[in-house]
Formats: sequence, structure tokens, C-alpha cells
Amino acid sequence: MRTTPRCYSTRSSPLPPESQRPGPGPDHVDDRVLAPRVAAVVPAAGQGMRLAAGMPKAFVPLRGRSLLWHCVQGLLASERVEVVVVAVGAQHHDRARAAVAEVGARVRIVTGGAHRCDSVRAALHTVPDAEVVLVHDAARCLTPVSVIQAVVEAVLAGQRAVVPVLTVVDTIKQVDPDGRVVGTLDRAALRVVQTPQGFAGDLLRRAHRLPSGPVTDDAGLVEALGVTVTTLPGHPHAFKITTPFDLAVAEMVAGGRAAGQA
Ligand code: C5P
Repeated sequence: MRTTPRCYSTRSSPLPPESQRPGPGPDHVDDRVLAPRVAAVVPAAGQGMRLAAGMPKAFVPLRGRSLLWHCVQGLLASERVEVVVVAVGAQHHDRARAAVAEVGARVRIVTGGAHRCDSVRAALHTVPDAEVVLVHDAARCLTPVSVIQAVVEAVLAGQRAVVPVLTVVDTIKQVDPDGRVVGTLDRAALRVVQTPQGFAGDLLRRAHRLPSGPVTDDAGLVEALGVTVTTLPGHPHAFKITTPFDLAVAEMVAGGRAAGQA
């Protein structure tokens, strides 16, 4: 089943840059924070076993700041995301709050679940009316702002589910349980998928209501509904920090960025 791209009737134009929006008055309660139109959900409740840093991956430092801080900072710097909901382990609320203290009221902390999709679902519950929801792994904390902006704009323009992708440069073999090659996949038809993945909020909520097996991304749930997922160009800097090697690469990328080289 394909669904027709939906127009967002009452508020369909892209958000103006934050710098052009009216400032809050003295008693102003910002309704973009209370009931955001564009929200980002950050599953950060994993243990980070493969990184083996002795702490959950979200709190591992990168140039003196946690991966979580870098992730949230990037989302808010896009000037498209109004609220970020971070899902962490129940025992890590205070640590998460401290990690993002300076970005303040626009970040909510919730308790994640046993699996990534449980964490996303828990966060999604707190933004029940958001028209656009991004799901962004804390581990992809160096994703360029331009990619975040492109994903939001694509959903605001009517695409219901959008994922950033890269082409595959390696040859990919399919193997059996004993490691014997059973086939060579056509890499021209394959893509590496990154985050943030962007969705019409109602679609993502519907996808998360259905029972599912283990999925590694949210687009997989949407695909199971028969809804078309579209792609746009990702970026090498949106790689997932998983291993100590990845963290070393991230230090170089972040260092180059701080020096104005990337
Ligand atoms: O394990 P993996 O690297 O695929 O996890 C992707 C993201 O999902 C990470 O940011 C991790 O913190 C998050 N996650 C979560 N809740 C879980 C497991 C993973 O929020 N139960």
C-alpha cells in the first residue's frame, strides 16, 4: 500500500530560521517547546558494549563533551528541531540532564526500554502531536546540520518517511551460518542507512503501535506497513560510533571541525 503524501494543512511552510522568529515576552511560555511541530527522538539507552568504555556510549566524551551533548547540540543547531527527547536508562536521568544542561528546556529526558525500538516508543509518547519526528542515534553525533535540515525539509514537503543514505563501496557477500559464501549482492542496488530518519508523526506512531520483531531502524517498521520510504544523500560524518576505532576517527573529525577544516 502506498499512502499519498500529506500536506500539513495549517502549518505547512518550512519553519523560518530561529533568528527571524519573534522573541519570547517576559511571561511567554514557548508553545514550540510545550507542543512541538518538529521533534527529535534520540534513543540513547544502549550499553555501548562494543565501545567498551566502561559507561553507556551516550556519555563517552568526545573532545571533552559527551556524545549525547554533541548529538543534541547538532539537532538544535539545525534550527528546525524544536524539542529533543532523549531516552536513557532509568538510572542515568541525572547524568543525561547534566550532559545537556546548557541546551536547557528544549530537551526532555525519558526512560528507555530493553530494545532500541522500546526506547524510541517511550520518547515518542511525550510528543504526541508532533507533525514531524526525527529519530536520531546518539552514536551519530557528528551528523552535519545540513543533513538534519534536509531530512526535516523533505518531510515538511510531503514525504512521509525519509532516510539519509550512502552508496556502498565494498563488495558485499552473503554467507551461510558456517561463513561460506552463498552469493554476491549487487552493490549498486544497496545503500548504507544513517540517521536522522524523518517521519510524518502520525505514520511513525502507527508503525510503533504494531507488534514487530527486532528491527534496527524505524524505517523498517514503516516499510512493514507498506509505506514507501524515500532516501536523500547522507554524509560520511554521520557514521555510527560503535568501536574504539570509530571513536578515534570521531576525535579527528571533531578536531578538524573545531579547527575549521571540515
Ligand atoms: O546497538 P545500536 O548501536 O544499534 O544502538 C543504536 C542506538 O540505540 C544507540 O544510540 C543506543 O543507545 C540506542 N539504544 C536504546 N535503547 C536500547 C538499545 C539501544 O536507546 N535498549
